[in-house]
Amino acid sequence: MNATLAQARAWDAADPLREFRARFALPAGVIYLDGNSLGALSVATQGRLGEAISREWGEGLIRSWNDEDWIGAPARVGGKIARLIGAGAHEVTAADSTSVNLFKLLAAALGARPGRRVILTEAGNFPTDLYVARGLAGLAPGVEVRAVASDAVAGAINEQVAVVLLSHVHYKSAARRDMAAITALAHGAGALALWDLSHSVGAIEIELNACAADLAVGCGYKFLNGGPGAPAFLFVAERLQETLVSPLTGWMGHAAPFDFVDDWRPAPGIGRFLAGTPPMLSLLALEVGVDLALEADAKAVAHKAERLWELFAGEVAARCAAHGFRLITPARAAERGSHIAFAHPDGYGIVQALIARGVIGDFRDPDIMRFGLTPLYLGYEDVWRAVEILDEVMKSEAWRHTPPRAAGRVT
Ligand SMILES: Cc1ncc(COP(=O)(O)O)c(C=O)c1O
Repeated sequence: MNATLAQARAWDAADPLREFRARFALPAGVIYLDGNSLGALSVATQGRLGEAISREWGEGLIRSWNDEDWIGAPARVGGKIARLIGAGAHEVTAADSTSVNLFKLLAAALGARPGRRVILTEAGNFPTDLYVARGLAGLAPGVEVRAVASDAVAGAINEQVAVVLLSHVHYKSAARRDMAAITALAHGAGALALWDLSHSVGAIEIELNACAADLAVGCGYKFLNGGPGAPAFLFVAERLQETLVSPLTGWMGHAAPFDFVDDWRPAPGIGRFLAGTPPMLSLLALEVGVDLALEADAKAVAHKAERLWELFAGEVAARCAAHGFRLITPARAAERGSHIAFAHPDGYGIVQALIARGVIGDFRDPDIMRFGLTPLYLGYEDVWRAVEILDEVMKSEAWRHTPPRAAGRVT
């Protein structure tokens, strides 16, 4: 899809989500295309954190665990996230990081499938998914992590597999898995399906229960705009909650933490998957981001994400054909998430040159440029201008002046 600047502006004027833009505190002169990595700060988050710090913490002190229901926040925020992912409120809790939640749910899944020793995943999955699975296998004799090529996953699901671990939307390509189909294959073989929703939650429609998903995890700091290092969440289908056991049997997952007894007894339901004390300020910030996502009409968000993507792809095809970008994101809307990725041998330098011009995307090895398309705070004009600046960076070869990449820097 292509547009003139005037058309892009007209689409923005008619956009049912347009008033959400003012709810974010984005810096002037920036086109922010990295909400798939770190979501933007909302105006309400600033106020909420100020209040949480000065009133709830400063004045309420420890009383706020009860008076402000801090203690109930993991379940409360989880219940809100549940509405974004097609789950029941009692099936989701905010907790820990995605990596830690992966560990807990993979271990619980292995425990629920005695005799099966394979964690099946795809090679090239997000590294923490692979590392955590392998770390767990190192602790559990006989457990094997089988990481097969992306298109070989379906064929590799068999009766040896305890759990299939996949990203719903791939962090590099944005390719989206057919959750219902893969989950059905896993169930057909007697395995469980664990979905990493980090790149789909808050961006596209997700129906965990309609897909009969068993387990899921996801990040709070991407499309949910929870803030840097925001708590993550986990989902355990109701039918599995009483049989699955978290390996991190911390006191917050105890049936009665304030009884202070020596023996661990699981809390009923999803609460047993908590481990330790939640990071309250971060959790309250995440809640604001989730509330904002819930205010928006999910269908309108998904529709706009599709159109922003089509405009980006169309403008790159029309203006940048000579610059050697290779689109690696699937073209069909049902097969992708909400970012667009291109491979280019000079991708790192190009992304740096764009950032220097206020167009913030990111780079993933070896040659992938990623641009997150977040419907709540991006407009069609932003996309149009971003591609205009990309074209200018290529024509002027500005990327050649990028300083060499230093080790250890976030890309
Ligand atoms: C698919 C996926 N899983 C997990 C993570 C990160 O997990 P954590 O929040 O534990 O660092 C990311 C971060 O980008 C991700 O893209």
